[in-house]
Amino acid sequence: MATLLRHLMIAFFSLLVGSFAIAQKQAAILPGEIWPDSDGNHIQAHGGGIIKVQKTYYWYGEQRRKDLDTNFRYVSCYSSKDLTNWKNQGDVIALAKPDTALVNNKWVLERPKVYYNGKTRKFVMYMHIDGALKDSRYNFSYDYARVGVAISDKATGPFKLVKTFRPLDRESRDIGQFIDDDGSAYLIFESRPEKGFYIAKLSDDYLNVEKEICFIKSPLEGGAIVHYKGLYYAVGSGLTGWAPNRNKVATSKSLSGPWSEFVDIAPEKAKTYGSQSTMFVKVVGKKDTTVIFLADIWKPKTQWDSRYLWMPVEIGDGKLWVPEPKPWTLDVKTGTWRYLE
Ligand code: DGJ
Repeated sequence: MATLLRHLMIAFFSLLVGSFAIAQKQAAILPGEIWPDSDGNHIQAHGGGIIKVQKTYYWYGEQRRKDLDTNFRYVSCYSSKDLTNWKNQGDVIALAKPDTALVNNKWVLERPKVYYNGKTRKFVMYMHIDGALKDSRYNFSYDYARVGVAISDKATGPFKLVKTFRPLDRESRDIGQFIDDDGSAYLIFESRPEKGFYIAKLSDDYLNVEKEICFIKSPLEGGAIVHYKGLYYAVGSGLTGWAPNRNKVATSKSLSGPWSEFVDIAPEKAKTYGSQSTMFVKVVGKKDTTVIFLADIWKPKTQWDSRYLWMPVEIGDGKLWVPEPKPWTLDVKTGTWRYLE
């Protein structure tokens, strides 16, 4: 009896220790490593976007875990107060093929971005929807070249698809999200025939892409913009599919340009440390402002294992540089960061 009791107690304590091990807190951001959520599972929010609503950050991205039903494409959502520890809020949309014009089941949903509209109190999701059409122009399943728009009453969904369309009647592939300091919301989208990317303002209700603000003639995707001390910094990657390349930055005093030449944001040979740009998050704290470069380290054959490269950038006076990735910590209240000792 005593032995049984001892065994039961050992089992109970190992379970307790085990569950602590799973639900442990993240002390730091570890670029390129597995990033466990609060349940201990690697975060699945690839090509993602982040918004802050009151004191909570929401991270949306491509859900690419292994057991997905291939009849759908999924967007995940995670929430956090400190940008380091993330709670899985589940999949906020499971989208069935949105258009019968897409000829096979290889269509894609990429780079979802969510905006919160304070006037309508709706959360509005933009996503890149693509796939092959009958008379394939590119012959590589990226002919559809549209955005999809979905809405929800809550940050954590469920989101419902409203429509798909080509913004400004242009082919649109990689999309990026930019919300200026005055709250204005913009969509960045790459347009292959024009060999560049657009910065476009959303309509008041965010359901339409209303106005072209600028077309930047430079063949870049993974577009991301940050506004810092009176200058706009626009970053993008070269067009090399999933393979990393030298991401570049240009600056301008106004979103409508003129923009400077594009220059490297990391050492030439490092190919952006094996990552591809997706977004900037600007953390304005009581003491300082930290601008974080958010990028994906893609693993095309094992997408569920794709990683994230988040690094605070050196920024100012027209220069933007991503320092060598190393573990770091962030204090969202003060807005300061430091390398983990
Ligand atoms: C690069 C894009 O940035 C990704 O989002 C994805 O579309 C890949 N190309 C597909 O090759």
